[in-house]
Amino acid sequence: MIEARAVERSNLRTLLSLKVGDDQRHLVASNAVTIAQVHYEPYSWLRGLWVGEEAVGLIAMIDLKPDHPDMAPNDPKNAAYLWRLMIAAAQQGKGYGRQAMGLAFGQARSWGRDMLCLHVSEREGNASAFYRRFGLHPTGRIDDGEAFLAGPVPAS
Ligand SMILES: CC(C)(COP(=O)(O)OP(=O)(O)OC[C@H]1O[C@@H](n2cnc3c(N)ncnc32)[C@H](O)[C@@H]1OP(=O)(O)O)[C@@H](O)C(=O)NCCC(=O)NCCS
Repeated sequence: MIEARAVERSNLRTLLSLKVGDDQRHLVASNAVTIAQVHYEPYSWLRGLWVGEEAVGLIAMIDLKPDHPDMAPNDPKNAAYLWRLMIAAAQQGKGYGRQAMGLAFGQARSWGRDMLCLHVSEREGNASAFYRRFGLHPTGRIDDGEAFLAGPVPAS
């Protein structure tokens, strides 16, 4: 079972070493970039994903509070934003991404949000079909070449 743990001095190097496949690098920022950016992103939440003592991925989210500086008039009003999700190449296909989505919905609920939204690259190999499995669908909006997906946060 996957477990979300805070990024700390003791596990930083391990999380920095996690990589997606070579053919997936264009789909998500590196963990180094995400871990750096999160310090400057208001209302953000970052966790390493672990199975026992093995690191398997990284997740970052943002609580889209009304005063978030990036909030646009056409953004959903009561939403959490799934900013980054990566499962390391060697750990994909084992159900960890699915479990991570359970954690993402749980975090959205803990913020009192009833929608989850995210951007997905429109490039080959993107994860939109993965997100569709969790009720997150294209809204028709494209920002900087990335499709904006949204869907309801299920009850726990
Ligand atoms: C997308 C990602 C998080 C999925 O993680 P994962 O651990 O491989 O996914 P799971 O093993 O939990 O798969 C759950 C289900 O989704 C399916 N699935 C996984 N990736 C998929 C994809 N890219 N497209 C369609 N379906 C996918 C699986 O086949 C599985 O189906 P099943 O339940 O019928 O067996 C992972 O592949 C990844 O990190 N990709 C690279 C980075 C990326 O694109 N991140 C998203 C940025 S927006």
